[in-house]
Amino acid sequence: MTDLTPVSFAATDLDAFANHAGRIAVIVTPEGKLEQSGRRVNRLSKGALQRFVDSDRFAKVKVGQVVSMAWPAGMAAEAVDLICLPRNHSVGEARKAGAALGKVRGDAALLMAVDGARRVAEVVFGCVMRDYTFSAHKTDAEANTTGITVMCTKPDEAEAAASPLLAIAEGTFMTRDLVNEPANVLTTTEFADRLAEMTSLGLEVEVLEEAELEKLGMRTLLCVGQGSDSPSKVVVMQWKGGAKDTAPLALVGKGVVFDTGGISLKPAAGMEDMTMDMGGAGVVAGTMRALAKRKAKANVVGLVGLVENMPSGNATRPGDVVTSMKGDTVEVINTDAEGRLVLCDVMWYAQERFEPAGMIDLATLTGAIIIGLGHENAGVFSNDDALCNAFLKAAEKENEGAWRMPLGKAYDDMLKSRIADMKNIGGRPAGSVTAAQFLQRFVKEDTPWIHLDIAGVASVKSATGLAPAGATGWGVMALSRLVADNFETE
Ligand code: BES
Ligand code: MN
Ligand code: ZN
Repeated sequence: MTDLTPVSFAATDLDAFANHAGRIAVIVTPEGKLEQSGRRVNRLSKGALQRFVDSDRFAKVKVGQVVSMAWPAGMAAEAVDLICLPRNHSVGEARKAGAALGKVRGDAALLMAVDGARRVAEVVFGCVMRDYTFSAHKTDAEANTTGITVMCTKPDEAEAAASPLLAIAEGTFMTRDLVNEPANVLTTTEFADRLAEMTSLGLEVEVLEEAELEKLGMRTLLCVGQGSDSPSKVVVMQWKGGAKDTAPLALVGKGVVFDTGGISLKPAAGMEDMTMDMGGAGVVAGTMRALAKRKAKANVVGLVGLVENMPSGNATRPGDVVTSMKGDTVEVINTDAEGRLVLCDVMWYAQERFEPAGMIDLATLTGAIIIGLGHENAGVFSNDDALCNAFLKAAEKENEGAWRMPLGKAYDDMLKSRIADMKNIGGRPAGSVTAAQFLQRFVKEDTPWIHLDIAGVASVKSATGLAPAGATGWGVMALSRLVADNFETE
């Protein structure tokens, strides 16, 4: 896995400020007020910092930006980086500043001379989240091992505040690695193996193989993978951090390791992007890792359906009718609408086995959600206002775009089949809604449920706030926040 930037915490040490050979970061308010640590650096630099802050040059600096002052007198540092943050900054502003700091620092060792546990933690988090490169397949890649040292008056407090955030960063990195990984490397077996490794973090991980899935009756899931040499699998990850008898929150992920479309083959142009079609499963995996790492006091179960959608002599044909685990029959009109076929069986299994307090599925489900919402927001569909609003609030707090979409009987009617209980597509209009409607047919009446269509946000062509181009890890922060705010005991 891509390693997080190493971060260490220490008590303020004036000699270290004077002798540090890399860069030193300090916080300054837009009005030009330095913190205690900043004032110390200022004294070492014989007042150069304050002169810079008082200059016209600084007047143009905005909240969340970083300006650098090179080779300060009286110090060994190559630069002092001034982070512009007001006293009452938002979480987003501190993270943005952290990301900006990460950018200017490059490979230099960074000493943060900053105060206030909470803000330090958020700045460090932004810096670490942005400091990600997927270099597993670059032969000339050199690991950047220069880390961040945080020096403040109460290093223990700062470390305690940062540690749950670093757990989330680690979960996000796992998601990004999985989503960036090409399909010849990340086969269904390799994916399951990487998840099984998380037992070392205290997660219970089970891998259900094809024979067991067959016995359970998961024919809709199996029919997607039957054209591939890679075996279909369902992986169940349980985190039992909550009270013994409380029902868990279930997270269900679409894990199509590659989506050719099957017999309803996709066009060649852009098909390589379908290596990210396991993005939902990737977010479930990363969230489970983050929860285990920060020892969340909640019961959460993550389930992923891992399949590869390939054309072959024994692939599912358009027109085939298959029976789901629930018992409902599906006429497969288009083998490229495969995600819903995978999810419906895993969702049914999750409810039968765990009777969850809530169920959230994540999937790169439809191209139509990209037409509707672009790369700014995931589509949110739900049968339960309370759970849905809790999620939207969590996503907003974490600056992860999420927008609620409608459900309704008229959309459901579009799935009627002449010969089976339903078709797997509803036609071009409202493609994302009919996909959600298909899933809802496999949600029990009393299960609060959210479907997140993340096709537009899982992977992007240009860098966003906290992520470089490629896999973003969208959702790990919001889901971890949802759990913290609504499902944790104490
Ligand atoms: N994996 C795709 C959806 C997708 C498209 C994800 C673009 C990311 C980027 C999904 O399996 C799919 O092929 N959906 C079809 C559904 C259609 C056949 C009803 C689509 O969106 O075109
Ligand atoms: Mn498809
Ligand atoms: Zn797909």
